[in-house]
Amino acid sequence: MATDTYLLGTDPIELERLRLQHELWLPEARRAWHRAGLKPGERVLDLGAGPGFVAMELAREVGPEGRVLGLELSSAYAEAARRAGLGLSQLEVRQHDLVSDAFPEESFDLVWCRWLLMFLGELDPLLDGLAAQLRPGARLVVHEYIHWSSFALHPGAEAVASFGRAAHASFLAAGGDPDVNRRLPSLLSQRGFRIDELRPLTVVGRLGDGVARWLECFVTIYGPELIRRGLWSHQEAERARAEMAAARQDPGTFWVGPTVMETRATR
Ligand SMILES: C[S@@+](CC[C@H](N)C(=O)[O-])C[C@H]1O[C@@H](n2cnc3c(N)ncnc32)[C@H](O)[C@@H]1O
Repeated sequence: MATDTYLLGTDPIELERLRLQHELWLPEARRAWHRAGLKPGERVLDLGAGPGFVAMELAREVGPEGRVLGLELSSAYAEAARRAGLGLSQLEVRQHDLVSDAFPEESFDLVWCRWLLMFLGELDPLLDGLAAQLRPGARLVVHEYIHWSSFALHPGAEAVASFGRAAHASFLAAGGDPDVNRRLPSLLSQRGFRIDELRPLTVVGRLGDGVARWLECFVTIYGPELIRRGLWSHQEAERARAEMAAARQDPGTFWVGPTVMETRATR
């Protein structure tokens, strides 16, 4: 893996998984931006922008009078985002390490962050940068997990459950914290942010619908990496495939996603 690549990798299959995940979660993201009062003409910072799916949407929301800056560790993703955003003059995506690079000296009205903090070994540099650089009144909207372990295929899909435990262990082993949003409101409050709202976001899926496809896709794509890391086995992967195939036909089974929380705060 390239040194600017995070735990889940940046190959084309993972990029497509991010697209599927983004399409499923976009309505929830839009509702969050509107709750935070995002308006045309505003300046937005997108933390851990990935291949730019959200940054593009944000750029449409703020329009040509606004600005979106996406910061992204992976040069491959930053390049993909730049290619996708060609023609949107209000959008810029930069390769940037949010743990070690200096926070941009620029003013923003709103900061958006989704599924980034859970991968960071250290939160202080980024949170200190936000506290120092944001002007009073700037808003922060975060979608990160508070209960990764709610990930399940019910009832009783044991091999899928063992995948969930292995994935959780892999996040911790890489220095991240899948339930990082349990700590975030307190860390923000200590830095002078006002916590405006904490909102749980849960998803349930069945019979191969969008949620079921999203969670199945994660098992299928990340399973081989967990096996390489010695955290899961080929036998469990085979059993999980059978459990997921059976669930696609059985109206009594259902998936539950890891519980996300929306943290909305004002500087
Ligand atoms: C699960 S993806 C989420 C992408 C995007 N936020 C979204 O919601 O679709 C996590 C992203 O965080 C990026 N990332 C991880 N560590 C980072 C760091 N230290 N600095 C900047 N980006 C980072 C990864 O490269 C990856 O693109």
